[in-house]
Amino acid sequence: MQYVSESTARDAVNKASTDLFSFVYKHAVKPVVFNQAPDIAHDQMISFCRAAGNIPPLMWLLRQMLDYTDPSLESEVMGLHFSNPFGLSAGLDKNCDLSTVLDAAGFGFETVGSTTSRPCAGNPRPWFHRLPEYDSMMVHVGLANDGSEQVIPKVEKAYTKAASMAMSISIARTNDDQCGDIDEGIEDYRISLERAAGRSSMVEINISCPNTHVGEPFNENPDNLDRLFTSLDSVERSQPLLVKMPLNKSWSEFKDLLDVLATHNVQGISIANLQKDRTGLSVPVQWAGGLSGGPCYEGSNALIANTYREFASRFAIAGIGGVFTPEQAYEKIRCGSSLVMFVSSLMFRGPQQISVFKRGLVQLLRRDGFENVSQAVGSGL
Ligand SMILES: Cc1cc2nc3c(=O)[nH]c(=O)nc-3n(C[C@H](O)[C@H](O)[C@H](O)COP(=O)(O)O)c2cc1C
Repeated sequence: MQYVSESTARDAVNKASTDLFSFVYKHAVKPVVFNQAPDIAHDQMISFCRAAGNIPPLMWLLRQMLDYTDPSLESEVMGLHFSNPFGLSAGLDKNCDLSTVLDAAGFGFETVGSTTSRPCAGNPRPWFHRLPEYDSMMVHVGLANDGSEQVIPKVEKAYTKAASMAMSISIARTNDDQCGDIDEGIEDYRISLERAAGRSSMVEINISCPNTHVGEPFNENPDNLDRLFTSLDSVERSQPLLVKMPLNKSWSEFKDLLDVLATHNVQGISIANLQKDRTGLSVPVQWAGGLSGGPCYEGSNALIANTYREFASRFAIAGIGGVFTPEQAYEKIRCGSSLVMFVSSLMFRGPQQISVFKRGLVQLLRRDGFENVSQAVGSGL
Protein backbone atom coordinates (compact mmCIF):
# COMPACT_ATOMS: atom_id res chain seq x y z
CA MET A 1 0.00 0.00 0.00
CA GLN A 2 2.79 2.33 0.98
CA TYR A 3 4.64 1.36 -2.24
CA VAL A 4 1.59 2.24 -4.33
CA SER A 5 1.23 5.69 -2.78
CA GLU A 6 4.98 6.32 -3.07
CA SER A 7 4.95 5.36 -6.74
CA THR A 8 1.81 7.45 -7.35
CA ALA A 9 3.52 10.47 -5.77
CA ARG A 10 6.69 9.81 -7.78
CA ASP A 11 4.64 9.54 -11.00
CA ALA A 12 2.96 12.86 -10.21
CA VAL A 13 6.29 14.61 -9.60
CA ASN A 14 7.79 13.15 -12.75
CA LYS A 15 4.70 14.10 -14.75
CA ALA A 16 4.86 17.69 -13.46
CA SER A 17 8.55 18.06 -14.37
CA THR A 18 8.18 16.46 -17.83
CA ASP A 19 5.07 18.59 -18.51
CA LEU A 20 7.15 21.64 -17.63
CA PHE A 21 9.88 20.49 -20.00
CA SER A 22 7.32 19.83 -22.76
CA PHE A 23 5.82 23.27 -22.29
CA VAL A 24 9.17 25.06 -22.38
CA TYR A 25 10.33 23.01 -25.39
CA LYS A 26 7.12 23.61 -27.33
CA HIS A 27 6.69 27.31 -26.58
CA ALA A 28 10.24 28.62 -26.07
CA VAL A 29 12.88 26.28 -27.52
CA LYS A 30 11.17 24.81 -30.60
CA PRO A 31 10.04 28.13 -32.12
CA VAL A 32 13.65 29.40 -31.95
CA VAL A 33 15.16 26.15 -33.21
CA PHE A 34 12.59 25.70 -36.00
CA ASN A 35 13.13 29.29 -37.07
CA GLN A 36 16.64 28.31 -38.15
CA ALA A 37 17.55 26.26 -41.20
CA PRO A 38 17.54 22.61 -40.02
CA ASP A 39 21.25 22.13 -40.80
CA ILE A 40 22.16 25.10 -38.60
CA ALA A 41 19.76 24.08 -35.82
CA HIS A 42 21.23 20.57 -35.83
CA ASP A 43 24.83 21.82 -35.48
CA GLN A 44 23.82 24.26 -32.73
CA MET A 45 21.98 21.54 -30.81
CA ILE A 46 25.08 19.31 -30.85
CA SER A 47 27.31 22.19 -29.68
CA PHE A 48 24.85 23.10 -26.92
CA CYS A 49 24.59 19.53 -25.61
CA ARG A 50 28.37 19.07 -25.74
CA ALA A 51 28.85 22.23 -23.67
CA ALA A 52 25.99 21.39 -21.28
CA GLY A 53 27.49 17.95 -20.63
CA ASN A 54 30.54 19.68 -19.14
CA ILE A 55 28.47 21.46 -16.48
CA PRO A 56 27.89 18.91 -13.67
CA PRO A 57 25.24 20.92 -11.75
CA LEU A 58 23.19 21.17 -14.95
CA MET A 59 23.46 17.42 -15.50
CA TRP A 60 22.44 16.84 -11.87
CA LEU A 61 19.38 19.04 -12.42
CA LEU A 62 18.50 17.25 -15.65
CA ARG A 63 18.66 13.88 -13.87
CA GLN A 64 16.51 15.16 -11.00
CA MET A 65 13.89 16.48 -13.39
CA LEU A 66 13.77 13.76 -16.02
CA ASP A 67 15.11 10.51 -14.72
CA TYR A 68 12.47 7.90 -14.01
CA THR A 69 13.25 4.33 -13.01
CA ASP A 70 11.02 1.36 -12.38
CA PRO A 71 11.91 -2.32 -11.99
CA SER A 72 9.36 -3.26 -14.66
CA LEU A 73 11.43 -1.37 -17.27
CA GLU A 74 14.58 -3.40 -16.62
CA SER A 75 15.46 -6.32 -18.88
CA GLU A 76 18.19 -8.65 -20.09
CA VAL A 77 18.61 -8.56 -23.87
CA MET A 78 21.43 -10.27 -25.81
CA GLY A 79 23.11 -10.97 -22.45
CA LEU A 80 23.16 -7.27 -21.48
CA HIS A 81 21.29 -5.58 -18.68
CA PHE A 82 19.18 -2.55 -19.69
CA SER A 83 17.76 -0.14 -17.11
CA ASN A 84 14.99 0.58 -19.62
CA PRO A 85 14.32 -0.44 -23.24
CA PHE A 86 14.65 3.03 -24.79
CA GLY A 87 17.65 4.15 -26.82
CA LEU A 88 18.74 6.88 -29.19
CA SER A 89 18.82 5.53 -32.73
CA ALA A 90 21.86 6.11 -34.95
CA GLY A 91 22.39 9.42 -36.71
CA LEU A 92 21.94 12.19 -34.16
CA ASP A 93 25.15 11.62 -32.19
CA LYS A 94 27.56 10.81 -35.00
CA ASN A 95 30.74 11.71 -33.11
CA CYS A 96 29.75 10.84 -29.53
CA ASP A 97 29.05 14.33 -28.21
CA LEU A 98 25.73 13.66 -26.45
CA SER A 99 26.41 10.74 -24.11
CA THR A 100 26.65 12.74 -20.86
CA VAL A 101 23.36 14.52 -21.54
CA LEU A 102 21.55 11.34 -22.64
CA ASP A 103 22.80 9.43 -19.60
CA ALA A 104 21.59 12.20 -17.28
CA ALA A 105 18.23 12.30 -19.08
CA GLY A 106 17.79 8.58 -18.34
CA PHE A 107 18.25 6.82 -21.69
CA GLY A 108 18.63 3.04 -21.46
CA PHE A 109 21.22 3.17 -24.22
CA GLU A 110 22.42 5.27 -27.10
CA THR A 111 23.71 4.45 -30.56
CA VAL A 112 26.68 6.57 -31.64
CA GLY A 113 27.39 6.97 -35.37
CA SER A 114 27.08 5.75 -37.94
CA THR A 115 30.85 5.94 -38.03
CA THR A 116 33.11 4.81 -40.86
CA SER A 117 36.70 3.63 -41.26
CA ARG A 118 37.78 6.93 -42.84
CA PRO A 119 36.62 10.39 -41.74
CA CYS A 120 33.73 11.24 -44.03
CA ALA A 121 32.48 14.67 -45.13
CA GLY A 122 29.08 13.33 -46.16
CA ASN A 123 26.93 14.66 -48.98
CA PRO A 124 26.79 18.31 -50.05
CA ARG A 125 24.50 20.45 -47.85
CA PRO A 126 21.63 20.82 -47.15
CA TRP A 127 21.42 17.55 -45.22
CA PHE A 128 17.96 18.13 -43.75
CA HIS A 129 14.49 19.37 -44.65
CA ARG A 130 11.68 19.48 -42.10
CA LEU A 131 8.25 18.03 -42.83
CA PRO A 132 6.38 18.90 -39.61
CA GLU A 133 3.03 17.87 -41.09
CA TYR A 134 4.33 14.28 -41.07
CA ASP A 135 6.51 14.57 -37.92
CA SER A 136 9.32 13.78 -40.30
CA MET A 137 12.75 14.93 -41.37
CA MET A 138 14.12 14.42 -44.87
CA VAL A 139 17.67 13.21 -44.22
CA HIS A 140 20.51 13.29 -46.76
CA VAL A 141 23.62 13.39 -44.57
CA GLY A 142 25.49 10.58 -46.31
CA LEU A 143 27.29 9.34 -43.18
CA ALA A 144 29.29 12.47 -42.29
CA ASN A 145 31.43 11.70 -39.23
CA ASP A 146 34.94 12.07 -37.83
CA GLY A 147 35.89 8.46 -38.61
CA SER A 148 35.92 5.43 -36.33
CA GLU A 149 39.54 5.93 -35.26
CA GLN A 150 38.47 9.16 -33.50
CA VAL A 151 34.90 8.28 -32.56
CA ILE A 152 35.37 4.84 -30.99
CA PRO A 153 37.76 5.97 -28.20
CA LYS A 154 35.13 8.57 -27.25
CA VAL A 155 32.49 5.83 -27.09
CA GLU A 156 34.79 3.70 -24.94
CA LYS A 157 35.25 6.59 -22.52
CA ALA A 158 31.48 7.19 -22.33
CA TYR A 159 30.89 3.44 -21.92
CA THR A 160 33.11 3.30 -18.84
CA LYS A 161 31.71 6.56 -17.42
CA ALA A 162 27.96 6.24 -17.99
CA ALA A 163 25.94 5.74 -14.79
CA SER A 164 23.13 3.64 -16.21
CA MET A 165 23.25 3.85 -20.00
CA ALA A 166 24.55 1.18 -22.39
CA MET A 167 26.55 2.33 -25.42
CA SER A 168 26.22 1.05 -28.98
CA ILE A 169 28.43 1.94 -31.94
CA SER A 170 26.87 2.00 -35.40
CA ILE A 171 29.37 1.11 -38.12
CA ALA A 172 28.81 1.90 -41.79
CA ARG A 173 30.88 1.82 -44.97
CA THR A 174 32.71 5.07 -45.76
CA ASN A 175 30.84 7.19 -48.31
CA ASP A 176 33.63 8.85 -50.30
CA ASP A 177 35.37 8.71 -53.67
CA GLN A 178 37.77 6.00 -52.47
CA CYS A 179 34.94 3.46 -52.40
CA GLY A 180 35.75 0.47 -54.56
CA ASP A 181 34.32 -3.00 -55.11
CA ILE A 182 32.57 -5.33 -52.68
CA ASP A 183 35.87 -6.53 -51.19
CA GLU A 184 36.89 -2.96 -50.47
CA GLY A 185 33.50 -2.40 -48.78
CA ILE A 186 33.93 -5.51 -46.63
CA GLU A 187 37.41 -4.38 -45.57
CA ASP A 188 36.02 -0.94 -44.68
CA TYR A 189 33.43 -2.40 -42.29
CA ARG A 190 36.00 -4.81 -40.89
CA ILE A 191 38.48 -2.05 -39.98
CA SER A 192 35.85 -0.28 -37.89
CA LEU A 193 34.61 -3.48 -36.24
CA GLU A 194 38.20 -4.37 -35.26
CA ARG A 195 38.52 -0.89 -33.72
CA ALA A 196 35.21 -1.32 -31.85
CA ALA A 197 35.85 -4.81 -30.49
CA GLY A 198 35.35 -4.86 -26.71
CA ARG A 199 34.97 -1.08 -26.44
CA SER A 200 31.19 -0.65 -26.13
CA SER A 201 28.13 -2.53 -24.85
CA MET A 202 27.12 -3.51 -28.37
CA VAL A 203 27.77 -2.84 -32.05
CA GLU A 204 25.34 -2.17 -34.88
CA ILE A 205 26.31 -2.83 -38.50
CA ASN A 206 24.45 -0.42 -40.77
CA ILE A 207 23.81 -2.08 -44.15
CA SER A 208 20.95 0.24 -45.11
CA CYS A 209 22.02 3.88 -45.43
CA PRO A 210 19.91 5.18 -48.34
CA ASN A 211 22.15 8.20 -48.98
CA THR A 212 25.49 6.95 -50.31
CA HIS A 213 26.88 7.09 -53.81
CA VAL A 214 27.68 3.33 -53.86
CA GLY A 215 24.11 2.44 -52.92
CA GLU A 216 23.23 -0.51 -50.67
CA PRO A 217 25.04 -3.56 -52.15
CA PHE A 218 24.94 -5.48 -48.86
CA ASN A 219 21.17 -5.55 -48.64
CA GLU A 220 20.43 -5.82 -52.35
CA ASN A 221 22.17 -9.15 -52.74
CA PRO A 222 22.15 -11.87 -50.03
CA ASP A 223 25.47 -13.25 -51.37
CA ASN A 224 27.20 -9.94 -50.68
CA LEU A 225 25.70 -9.95 -47.18
CA ASP A 226 26.98 -13.48 -46.63
CA ARG A 227 30.49 -12.47 -47.74
CA LEU A 228 30.43 -9.42 -45.45
CA PHE A 229 29.45 -11.40 -42.37
CA THR A 230 31.78 -14.29 -43.17
CA SER A 231 34.56 -11.73 -42.82
CA LEU A 232 33.08 -9.96 -39.76
CA ASP A 233 32.55 -13.30 -37.96
CA SER A 234 36.30 -13.70 -37.69
CA VAL A 235 36.74 -10.43 -35.76
CA GLU A 236 37.06 -11.32 -32.09
CA ARG A 237 34.71 -9.24 -29.99
CA SER A 238 33.01 -9.50 -26.63
CA GLN A 239 29.91 -7.46 -27.35
CA PRO A 240 26.66 -8.51 -29.11
CA LEU A 241 26.08 -7.29 -32.66
CA LEU A 242 22.92 -5.99 -34.31
CA VAL A 243 22.30 -5.37 -38.01
CA LYS A 244 20.45 -2.21 -39.09
CA MET A 245 18.01 -3.26 -41.78
CA PRO A 246 16.35 -1.40 -44.65
CA LEU A 247 12.66 -0.52 -44.44
CA ASN A 248 11.70 -0.77 -48.11
CA LYS A 249 11.78 -4.50 -48.68
CA SER A 250 9.02 -7.02 -49.21
CA TRP A 251 8.83 -9.64 -46.46
CA SER A 252 10.32 -12.30 -48.74
CA GLU A 253 13.32 -10.07 -49.61
CA PHE A 254 13.73 -9.16 -45.94
CA LYS A 255 13.52 -12.80 -44.88
CA ASP A 256 16.21 -13.78 -47.41
CA LEU A 257 18.55 -11.36 -45.64
CA LEU A 258 17.58 -12.68 -42.20
CA ASP A 259 18.18 -16.26 -43.35
CA VAL A 260 21.73 -15.25 -44.23
CA LEU A 261 22.29 -13.36 -40.97
CA ALA A 262 20.96 -16.33 -38.97
CA THR A 263 23.99 -18.34 -40.11
CA HIS A 264 26.42 -15.74 -38.73
CA ASN A 265 27.58 -14.30 -35.42
CA VAL A 266 24.69 -11.82 -35.18
CA GLN A 267 22.58 -11.39 -32.05
CA GLY A 268 20.07 -8.67 -32.92
CA ILE A 269 18.17 -6.98 -35.75
CA SER A 270 17.45 -3.24 -35.77
CA ILE A 271 14.28 -2.51 -37.77
CA ALA A 272 14.51 -0.19 -39.60
CA ASN A 273 16.31 2.62 -41.40
CA LEU A 274 14.78 5.64 -43.20
CA GLN A 275 11.68 5.51 -45.41
CA LYS A 276 12.42 5.82 -49.15
CA ASP A 277 8.82 5.51 -50.36
CA ARG A 278 7.16 8.91 -50.77
CA THR A 279 3.82 7.59 -52.04
CA GLY A 280 0.94 9.71 -50.76
CA LEU A 281 3.28 12.28 -49.22
CA SER A 282 3.65 15.81 -50.46
CA VAL A 283 7.44 16.12 -50.65
CA PRO A 284 9.27 18.43 -53.10
CA VAL A 285 10.89 16.20 -55.77
CA GLN A 286 14.17 18.12 -55.60
CA TRP A 287 14.68 17.09 -51.95
CA ALA A 288 17.03 14.14 -51.89
CA GLY A 289 17.14 11.65 -49.03
CA GLY A 290 15.13 9.32 -46.83
CA LEU A 291 12.28 10.17 -44.47
CA SER A 292 12.37 9.71 -40.70
CA GLY A 293 9.53 9.80 -38.19
CA GLY A 294 5.84 9.30 -38.99
CA PRO A 295 6.27 7.71 -42.44
CA CYS A 296 8.40 4.91 -40.90
CA TYR A 297 5.93 3.76 -38.25
CA GLU A 298 3.60 1.26 -39.98
CA GLY A 299 6.19 -0.33 -42.26
CA SER A 300 8.64 -0.97 -39.46
CA ASN A 301 5.93 -2.49 -37.25
CA ALA A 302 5.01 -4.96 -40.01
CA LEU A 303 8.64 -6.05 -40.48
CA ILE A 304 9.17 -6.32 -36.71
CA ALA A 305 6.07 -8.53 -36.35
CA ASN A 306 7.10 -10.83 -39.21
CA THR A 307 10.66 -11.06 -37.90
CA TYR A 308 9.39 -11.91 -34.42
CA ARG A 309 7.03 -14.57 -35.77
CA GLU A 310 9.80 -16.39 -37.62
CA PHE A 311 13.01 -15.52 -35.77
CA ALA A 312 12.02 -14.82 -32.15
CA SER A 313 14.23 -17.57 -30.81
CA ARG A 314 17.21 -16.52 -32.97
CA PHE A 315 17.36 -12.70 -32.81
CA ALA A 316 16.56 -9.92 -30.38
CA ILE A 317 14.74 -7.08 -32.14
CA ALA A 318 15.31 -3.35 -31.70
CA GLY A 319 12.25 -1.57 -33.12
CA ILE A 320 12.71 1.87 -34.69
CA GLY A 321 10.56 4.33 -36.59
CA GLY A 322 7.92 6.92 -35.83
CA VAL A 323 7.70 6.51 -32.06
CA PHE A 324 6.21 9.71 -30.59
CA THR A 325 3.97 8.35 -27.79
CA PRO A 326 4.21 5.63 -25.11
CA GLU A 327 1.40 3.81 -26.92
CA GLN A 328 3.47 3.70 -30.13
CA ALA A 329 6.50 2.45 -28.20
CA TYR A 330 4.32 -0.21 -26.57
CA GLU A 331 3.04 -1.29 -29.98
CA LYS A 332 6.65 -1.80 -31.16
CA ILE A 333 7.14 -4.03 -28.08
CA ARG A 334 3.87 -5.91 -28.65
CA CYS A 335 5.02 -6.55 -32.25
CA GLY A 336 8.22 -8.17 -30.93
CA SER A 337 10.78 -5.49 -30.06
CA SER A 338 12.82 -5.98 -26.90
CA LEU A 339 14.42 -2.56 -27.38
CA VAL A 340 12.91 0.61 -28.86
CA MET A 341 14.92 3.40 -30.46
CA PHE A 342 13.98 6.86 -31.65
CA VAL A 343 15.44 10.07 -33.11
CA SER A 344 12.69 12.23 -34.65
CA SER A 345 10.67 12.31 -31.45
CA LEU A 346 13.54 14.12 -29.71
CA MET A 347 13.72 16.72 -32.47
CA PHE A 348 9.96 17.31 -32.81
CA ARG A 349 8.87 16.92 -29.16
CA GLY A 350 11.96 17.53 -26.99
CA PRO A 351 14.37 15.78 -24.61
CA GLN A 352 11.68 14.96 -22.03
CA GLN A 353 10.36 12.29 -24.42
CA ILE A 354 12.55 9.66 -22.79
CA SER A 355 10.80 10.24 -19.47
CA VAL A 356 7.35 10.42 -21.08
CA PHE A 357 7.96 7.04 -22.76
CA LYS A 358 9.22 5.36 -19.60
CA ARG A 359 6.41 6.56 -17.33
CA GLY A 360 3.79 5.83 -20.00
CA LEU A 361 5.16 2.35 -20.64
CA VAL A 362 5.06 1.46 -16.94
CA GLN A 363 1.38 2.44 -16.86
CA LEU A 364 0.59 0.40 -19.99
CA LEU A 365 2.41 -2.67 -18.63
CA ARG A 366 0.48 -2.41 -15.36
CA ARG A 367 -2.82 -1.93 -17.19
CA ASP A 368 -2.26 -5.16 -19.13
CA GLY A 369 -1.02 -7.18 -16.16
CA PHE A 370 2.64 -7.50 -17.18
CA GLU A 371 5.28 -7.50 -14.46
CA ASN A 372 8.01 -6.36 -16.78
CA VAL A 373 8.72 -5.29 -20.33
CA SER A 374 10.09 -8.71 -21.37
CA GLN A 375 6.70 -10.31 -20.71
CA ALA A 376 5.07 -7.89 -23.16
CA VAL A 377 7.47 -8.56 -26.07
CA GLY A 378 5.48 -10.08 -28.94
CA SER A 379 2.25 -10.11 -26.89
CA GLY A 380 0.27 -8.41 -29.66
CA LEU A 381 0.78 -11.22 -32.16
C1 LIG B 1 19.21 13.20 -38.61
C2 LIG B 1 19.20 11.73 -38.84
C3 LIG B 1 20.38 11.07 -39.19
C4 LIG B 1 20.39 9.69 -39.35
N1 LIG B 1 21.58 9.05 -39.60
C5 LIG B 1 21.62 7.68 -39.51
C6 LIG B 1 22.87 7.00 -39.52
O1 LIG B 1 23.95 7.61 -39.61
N2 LIG B 1 22.85 5.64 -39.43
C7 LIG B 1 21.69 4.92 -39.30
O2 LIG B 1 21.74 3.70 -39.19
N3 LIG B 1 20.48 5.56 -39.29
C8 LIG B 1 20.44 6.90 -39.37
N4 LIG B 1 19.23 7.55 -39.30
C9 LIG B 1 17.99 6.75 -39.20
C10 LIG B 1 17.52 6.61 -37.76
O3 LIG B 1 18.45 5.92 -36.97
C11 LIG B 1 16.17 5.89 -37.68
O4 LIG B 1 16.32 4.59 -38.21
C12 LIG B 1 15.06 6.61 -38.44
O5 LIG B 1 15.17 8.01 -38.33
C13 LIG B 1 13.67 6.21 -37.93
O6 LIG B 1 13.55 6.56 -36.57
P1 LIG B 1 12.71 7.88 -36.08
O7 LIG B 1 11.38 7.77 -36.76
O8 LIG B 1 12.63 7.75 -34.61
O9 LIG B 1 13.48 9.05 -36.52
C14 LIG B 1 19.19 8.95 -39.20
C15 LIG B 1 18.00 9.63 -38.91
C16 LIG B 1 17.99 10.99 -38.72
C17 LIG B 1 16.69 11.69 -38.39
